[in-house]
Amino acid sequence: MKRFLMCEPRFFEVCYVINPWMEGNLGKVDSELAQQQWRNLYGIVSGLASVSLIEPVAGLPDMVFTANAGLVQSKEDGKKEFIVSSFRHAERQPEAKHFEKFFSSLGYRVRHLKEETIFEGAGDALFDSQGRLCFGSGIRSESHALDEIVDMLDVEACGLELVNPHWYHLDTAFCPLPEGQAIAYAKAFAGKSVDTLNHAFGESIIWVSETDAKNFACNAISINQSVIMHSASAELKTALKQRGLEVIEVDVSEFLKAGGACKCLTLEI
Ligand code: ARG
Repeated sequence: MKRFLMCEPRFFEVCYVINPWMEGNLGKVDSELAQQQWRNLYGIVSGLASVSLIEPVAGLPDMVFTANAGLVQSKEDGKKEFIVSSFRHAERQPEAKHFEKFFSSLGYRVRHLKEETIFEGAGDALFDSQGRLCFGSGIRSESHALDEIVDMLDVEACGLELVNPHWYHLDTAFCPLPEGQAIAYAKAFAGKSVDTLNHAFGESIIWVSETDAKNFACNAISINQSVIMHSASAELKTALKQRGLEVIEVDVSEFLKAGGACKCLTLEI
């Protein structure tokens, strides 16, 4: 059974702007509604997988986006490693020590990249069904972070360049699915990276429309045959159904105001 980490949105709000979605949304989060939406998501995820919780910290509103805590790799001997993020923006940097403490208390081996290297965890680093590490850089994480990670974890990698500030983390524009399928939004990527994705996933990649991309359809949680996302067009649902997958929609509109949706509210651990 998959296991995820989530963080209750007790202190969630939009009180700074570090991505284009946050512009115009300062102070606009309905806190009650955000907590209700998060509980709905928690209910769905915990019905399909097990969920651990990290205690939220006052003053760190984006800590709810646990995808950015770091990158977890399970080793063959059952041991787990956690490469802790080092955030680009000062507003999120203090989150790292809380995530580090949490993972070391669970017995994970905590690892760090070089001091100056910017890396935003599973927001930019996603394992596909073959164990290949798909890595997005250019807006938040730096491409040389991938070189360090490959040396550390001994994994095959697929480097992708993000070019559109609205799709600033790889998980806002790309989601690998269980049997080699994937969904992605082409305009988020440099032309060469679109070629890389077509080459890597062939017919199994679904390129989503701008409307689906703006509804954060690529920011999806994949558990067994279910794909959990904020919203999907009929066309996307059909395309996934044809590939044996079922969409579960969960309204997370309050989190869209901060530039995040379902997937970034979770971290597979
Ligand atoms: N406001 C947060 C930020 O800009 C949102 C993070 C969303 N996380 C993600 N993995 N896409 O960092």
